[in-house]
Amino acid sequence: MKILVTGGTGFIGSHTVVELISAGHEVEILDNLSNSKESVLDAISKLTGVSPKFYKADILDKARLTEIFSGTKYDVVIHFAGLKAVAESVEQPLKYYENNVEGTINLLNAMLNTGVDNIIFSSSATVYGDPGVTAYTEDLPTGQNITSPYGKTKYMIEEILKDIAMSKPEFSATILRYFNPVGAHPSGFIGEDPNGRPNNLMPIIMKVAQGEYPELSIYGDDYPTSDGTCIRDYIHVVDLAKGHLAALQHIKPGISVYNLGSGKGTSVLEMVAAFEKASGKKLPYKIVGRRTGDLPEMHAIPEKAFRELGWKTELTIDDAMRDTINYLRALA
Ligand code: NAD
Ligand code: UFG
Repeated sequence: MKILVTGGTGFIGSHTVVELISAGHEVEILDNLSNSKESVLDAISKLTGVSPKFYKADILDKARLTEIFSGTKYDVVIHFAGLKAVAESVEQPLKYYENNVEGTINLLNAMLNTGVDNIIFSSSATVYGDPGVTAYTEDLPTGQNITSPYGKTKYMIEEILKDIAMSKPEFSATILRYFNPVGAHPSGFIGEDPNGRPNNLMPIIMKVAQGEYPELSIYGDDYPTSDGTCIRDYIHVVDLAKGHLAALQHIKPGISVYNLGSGKGTSVLEMVAAFEKASGKKLPYKIVGRRTGDLPEMHAIPEKAFRELGWKTELTIDDAMRDTINYLRALA
């Protein structure tokens, strides 16, 4: 298939591009490089032997989108492009609504104007808000008690996709709700290397391991969990990338929603221990107060993705830590 990947030089996008090319798909990438580097394209070429066409473009630029879509007839758009820093979205909500929601509307207009009916969208477990349970199935209500504008953009985009599907029977949107992506490609060529100060646990652990930050601050050890720290469902980014390939093979008209997670919860302290085991070094940390908006515990029930897409995770937290450390060595 001929696929446009927005955000394809980013963390999850780049790993997905590698899987798509390796499976024989023809890929083009659109990214404004606001949170990624152009050198990722070289790494993709080294890994796959293919240099995908790259558009340094912004999804807020309607004219540029029209130009790109008039040049090629895509079968599918896989839409990763978006801003994802939860705390920044609280401080600058309009930036997030503009970039994520308006950008997606521009993209959808460009698609529909050129007869592209298929989209795979990067959503997030955050759309479930605070559902009052710890194991998440796709049929839980969404949109209630979402604490950040970032999370609300994901919910709003899901609703927009549902409305388009109502108006256009041939339209197909596959909504993938990711849990917590971690790890790197086992080659060490690509991984998570965000521009600026990261917010997520793993890139912060990486900065501590690199000596850039003195220690990890663990946000609370008084939660009602096994060791008091929060529990999340961490998924290796290569497994997640393969989830997109599985979704691509099962595109059908209408809305399809899948949780992409491992089904297993891991605490922050267990993540620290796994990193220490893989690196053979102590990771300095201190316990600080809770972070506003954090839920004590969540994990995916990924059964629907297995049943309908034949996809499940194959890699472990230890694999993710090994690959992250390998990537850190390559960066050094
Ligand atoms: P990332 O920041 O590494 O990748 C996003 C890419 O989109 C970046 O390369 C960035 O430069 C690009 N981009 C941003 N705004 C753009 C714009 N206006 N025009 C063109 N390109 C633009 O993030 P990621 O972790 O790879 O996440 C990919 C997607 O998955 C995002 O939509 C994110 O919200 C979603 N998601 C991520 C996580 C996570 O924890 N990493 C969890 C759930 C959902
Ligand atoms: N944490 C720390 N210290 C840090 C950073 C994180 O203790 O410096 C803890 C958090 O409190 C949380 C866990 O590590 O318990 C994971 O935090 P992340 O920020 O990495 O991830 P979140 O689960 O908060 O959020 C992630 C994505 C969001 C997405 C959400 C929904 O970043 O984009 O999952 O599943 F919306």
